[in-house]
Amino acid sequence: MLCIEAKSLFRSYGNVTAVDGIDISVESGKIFGFLGPNGAGKTTTMKLLTTLIPPSSGTITILGIDASRHPLDVRKKIGVVLQQPSYEPTLTVEKSLEKYGMMWDIDIKTRRDRVEELLTAFDLQDIRKKKNDDISIGQRRRVQVAREFMHDMDLLFLDEPTAGLDPSARRGLLDYIKGKVRDGLTIFFTTHILEEAEYLCDEIAIINRGKIIAVDTPDELKNKFGREKTIKIRIGQMQEISGMLQGVRNYDVSHDEGTVITIHSADSEQILAKILQVLQSNNIQIEDLSVVPTSLEEIFLTVVKNSNASSISSGK
Ligand SMILES: Nc1ncnc2c1ncn2[C@@H]1O[C@H](COP(=O)(O)OP(=O)(O)OP(=O)(O)O)[C@@H](O)[C@H]1O
Ligand SMILES: [Mg+2]
Repeated sequence: MLCIEAKSLFRSYGNVTAVDGIDISVESGKIFGFLGPNGAGKTTTMKLLTTLIPPSSGTITILGIDASRHPLDVRKKIGVVLQQPSYEPTLTVEKSLEKYGMMWDIDIKTRRDRVEELLTAFDLQDIRKKKNDDISIGQRRRVQVAREFMHDMDLLFLDEPTAGLDPSARRGLLDYIKGKVRDGLTIFFTTHILEEAEYLCDEIAIINRGKIIAVDTPDELKNKFGREKTIKIRIGQMQEISGMLQGVRNYDVSHDEGTVITIHSADSEQILAKILQVLQSNNIQIEDLSVVPTSLEEIFLTVVKNSNASSISSGK
């Protein structure tokens, strides 16, 4: 079943087209990652899908419900954590969770159990009696995300939930999310952090200037855009090797720290064989060698750069 189905979505603010004709479909039980640079249209898309703002045109169906006709029905079934901080300064951490549970009409026993579970899962036990005003920004973000799990929902939208979290809090949150998805939750998740998307998401869409420019599984994105590999060779002593490598085609060599040669190439195996040959015949000793597949981060940068270049050349 499709949990999210959006077709030909457009949204403008005055003469800025923030979302420029996108289609999104997300199957239930999946984690969908929405990636893009600042100002790409991620938050706007999330606000459209969660009925917080109406589209200029296009259709949105959430959990089988027409979002423009029945926005309140949609909101009852979803959870939303916005990018913008939201907290009540004078409430304590535990009361913030408690109050959220009351707002959603969760019975007292379930509420108490969930508060305890979330305080532990989000590492908030030590500061449970502190006021939101008196805790750190990252801790506040954890409270903001944690409280959303006080209620039952089928679909959860998270707009950069890990922004400001330290590495262990971040990993804790990602693993908590994974557990919830195993129990049947569907997640729409925006981030700038590629490793995070790769760790978490079943499918990733990359948005740039309001348009989706790539959508696939993390592995397929790497297959499509990441054929290029990086070879790093550390040699014993500084040598001028560019001249020696002149016969080797289709590569891009750079010396990073004097003794490290970095080679980017789409046919790395052949290039590597040739380079080894050259180094050996020149009696240059190799101290260390590694072949690294292109990271999702490099793919992201390339895809966004190409899409910017093509929209400039087409005059848009
Ligand atoms: N309320 C608003 N009024 C006018 N323009 C807006 C408004 N909100 C967003 N925009 C513009 O719409 C575009 C998309 O913004 P959006 O917030 O959706 O980007 P984003 O991908 O979430 O960026 P970030 O990574 O910085 O959160 C930007 O050009 C932004 O300046
Ligand atoms: Mg945003």
